[in-house]
Amino acid sequence: MNRVIPLLLIAVCSASSAETPSQIGDSYAAIQGARFRATPARGAEFFTRKFSVSEKFPSCSTCHTENPMEAGRHAITGKTIKPLSPVANTERFTDPAKVEKWFRRNCKEVVGRECSADEKANFIAFLAGGR
Ligand code: HEC
Repeated sequence: MNRVIPLLLIAVCSASSAETPSQIGDSYAAIQGARFRATPARGAEFFTRKFSVSEKFPSCSTCHTENPMEAGRHAITGKTIKPLSPVANTERFTDPAKVEKWFRRNCKEVVGRECSADEKANFIAFLAGGR
């Protein structure tokens, strides 16, 4: 089940080219059902929450910094990462396949599992708010 949904999402989304962050957020919210409402505050809490999977990068904010409007820095390679907020970086959350690829990779490394659709919807709602 967990593996099927993201693949389905990619298949549905890759039919069209560029999307907006709210369209991508909505497609995750839709998985949760019609009554679900994304909560930016829960996305903010998730962004800085410390997990115990990786010592080097316990949270999303380890690489993306506590302020997603600012450029981040990769905890291992030291490479600069452009701001994650779509307000600061208009390329963010416009390519569903890219979003899904990085959610999968980063969630596994930081959280130790894939992120759920509600976590992703909350995360995008938080970032799209410009914080
Ligand atoms: C080890 C460093 C690191 C950590 C920790 C990390 N990321 Fe990232 N993240 C990256 C890199 C590198 C990229 C890809 C380069 C880029 O797009 O600038 C990226 C890109 C992304 C993207 C792509 C967005 C887009 O549309 O371009 C999302 C979504 C994302 N990360 C979410 C997360 C989440 C959620 C967490 C925590 C569970 C997290 N990241 C933790 C390094 C990290």
